Amino acid sequence: MEKDVETFYDNVAENYSDHDDRVCDKITEHFIIDNLPKKTLKILDAGGGTGRFSEPLLKKEHKVVLTELSAEMLNKAKEKLGSYNNVEFVKNSVTNMIEFKDETFDVVLMINAILDYCGDYDKAMQEAHRILKRGGLLIATVNNRFLYCKSHELKEGNFDLFRENIKTGNRYIVWGGQEKGHISHEFTLDELKNALEKNQFNIKKLLGIFNLMDKYEMDEVKNKEDFIKLQIEFAEKEEYINNSQDFFFVAEK
Ligand SMILES: C[S@@+](CC[C@H](N)C(=O)[O-])C[C@H]1O[C@@H](n2cnc3c(N)ncnc32)[C@H](O)[C@@H]1O
Repeated sequence: MEKDVETFYDNVAENYSDHDDRVCDKITEHFIIDNLPKKTLKILDAGGGTGRFSEPLLKKEHKVVLTELSAEMLNKAKEKLGSYNNVEFVKNSVTNMIEFKDETFDVVLMINAILDYCGDYDKAMQEAHRILKRGGLLIATVNNRFLYCKSHELKEGNFDLFRENIKTGNRYIVWGGQEKGHISHEFTLDELKNALEKNQFNIKKLLGIFNLMDKYEMDEVKNKEDFIKLQIEFAEKEEYINNSQDFFFVAEK
């Protein structure tokens, strides 16, 4: 399973940074920065891809370690961020971060479905908990099961598959013109809350950061800057969390 994800991202790495300007990622970046303690931090960008979220943190002079399962994604991150002297790169899996001692980081980021893709989100949360300092923060986004299963399988008329995916949360995904994809575990809100509590995290914030429209259609909005402000305002509205494609959370050790 891990091998499928690694191969998939090795294959899409070449053009992955084309995504860097997405409106949805600007919204995510706002909430990451907004929730960081106001001091210089040691941050792990776990499953950091080609460095989309590491870069603004490096510019703010935080110390960042970017980890990746995919060697090709990691190479692209090195090309993009190599000129910064406050960054390190490590190839590993979020389910086994043996390279890092207990209580090393102030913040661990797992942005854009790392917990969904890693194959064992409990293990990934346990590892994040182990390497965070006491009071440290796990900041992450995960996929909302209902919206991801609904938007993809229903259009194809695969109603039995929809029922099955809703039941298990495990969905096969493929994009970017690739022949083979990988499994993603999509979360319900209760499942996410229970997993964080079971793994000894205290949930500080849980937001519906893409509750106004499909996150992949946000780039088509005419007045992007005003839209981003509106989405930031609505993300905080608790009653609409379940309308959001991704859930954003801040959880404290
Ligand atoms: C959707 S991309 C997000 C990348 C980056 N966080 C961002 O938002 O731009 C998912 C990334 O997770 C990485 N990944 C998947 N499973 C992983 C694992 N078990 N350990 C570390 N990285 C993993 C993939 O290689 C891929 O680069």
